[in-house]
Amino acid sequence: MQAIELNSGTRLSDGAGAETALSVAVCGAGYVGLSSALALAHVGHSVTCVDVDKKKIAKLSAGELPFYEPHAQALLVSLADRISFTTDFADLRGSDVAIIAVGTPTFEDGTSDLSALWSVVEEIRALADSSPMLLINKSTAPIGSVRKIQQKLRSTPLITAVSSPEFLRQGFALRDTLYPERIVVGCDDARAESVLRKLYAPIVDQSFPEPPFLPRPNGYDKPAWVCTDSASAELTKYAANAFLATKISFINEIAELAELVGADVTDVAHGIGLDRRIGNDFLMAGLGWGGSCFPKDTLALVASGRRLGAPMEIVGAARSTNQRQRERFVRKLNDLVGGLDGKKIVLLGMTFKPGTDDLRDAPSLHIARLLIDFGAEVEMHDPVARPGDIIALAKNADAIALVTEWPVYSELDWRPIASAMRGNVVLDGRNALDINAIQDAGLHLTGMGVTR
Ligand code: UGA
Repeated sequence: MQAIELNSGTRLSDGAGAETALSVAVCGAGYVGLSSALALAHVGHSVTCVDVDKKKIAKLSAGELPFYEPHAQALLVSLADRISFTTDFADLRGSDVAIIAVGTPTFEDGTSDLSALWSVVEEIRALADSSPMLLINKSTAPIGSVRKIQQKLRSTPLITAVSSPEFLRQGFALRDTLYPERIVVGCDDARAESVLRKLYAPIVDQSFPEPPFLPRPNGYDKPAWVCTDSASAELTKYAANAFLATKISFINEIAELAELVGADVTDVAHGIGLDRRIGNDFLMAGLGWGGSCFPKDTLALVASGRRLGAPMEIVGAARSTNQRQRERFVRKLNDLVGGLDGKKIVLLGMTFKPGTDDLRDAPSLHIARLLIDFGAEVEMHDPVARPGDIIALAKNADAIALVTEWPVYSELDWRPIASAMRGNVVLDGRNALDINAIQDAGLHLTGMGVTR
């Protein structure tokens, strides 16, 4: 085995392949941590994943995923010899790289709760003995956090802290991690970049074998490598999420206008999206965004801007528009059923988007609360979060409203649903349902920003 030099003197063995296998610690077994851990193990590194949640670690050690994410279960099973799980930080001693991927929830005023992040930093600091370690922050934390970590580690020169923000989407977590469009890293110490390059080399070069269930997407090339300072990398993460959230809110405002002038927002979105400077993605009008990222990151950006004297007015407006979409949807339902009091409404889709079991800041929960406040009786269905018989739920319903566009709802047989219902209203909050199937069943379909 050939030996190579890593960082300031750690010797690692280079296996049979061209790539260098590193010993990687991942702190936090949530979506980001686990997806990174699985992807990095798949591309050849040896990974130890630590979390303070004993139940979660016990499940993972038994080969079971603590949440729903396509392909993660299959990958976990196939990597049993290259990934291990622990609740004990001492097991991370000697790692070349430690990745922080813990939750950083936002308080109501937009500031972030960084207690989990600081506790990981302390645990890692306690491990520094003789070998150098690169500490990579992947948790979304306020701009300047990595520099604060560097300050905290001043007396521990063996540990270098850098930023490597994560851009994966839930539901596509492994696909986005193995086949990303770009990898952004933020190093304030230029020497750290070489270790980051070793860590990400198999992904940058796309030299790893494709998992049979997750092949390289058609036309996919290789990710761009963006190396900058830590503050720029941190701001890139916030700016990316804020831009995408704003793009959705923009098309939702156009949708509101489209309804008033008798236009169809899906055609407008198509028409503008063909301009490559605009692009077609994230122009699906409807109920707007939810989840654990856009709401939290836009709030944090607005709060930072206010605190630092650079008001993020566009992002603030995108947030207001997003809230208004949910209220507008409830008003529409109210008008369609002739007043919500005493009416039975069935909501289809609960998770904040299809392909996940995540209910954090899901529009469905907000909408259900508003409907109940207006006196409606609400039933909810979701293929993952609350499976059940839709026909039974539709019994005596005055309206059915699509909140999350799970593909299964586009393939529904509407005839038995129509027979079970008392009313004939279908409100499509995502413009995803099949109009012909609904009209053929004798129901009346209304969308968002479309005139039908
Ligand atoms: C988002 C970003 O897309 C990721 O790049 C980022 O890494 C992640 O946040 C994060 O910060 O961790 P995610 O929250 O998983 O990913 O979900 P998206 O697929 O981006 O969707 C966000 C919301 O926008 C969903 O509620 C979705 O329904 C809504 N959306 C999306 C629309 O209303 N219209 C669209 O055209 C697209």
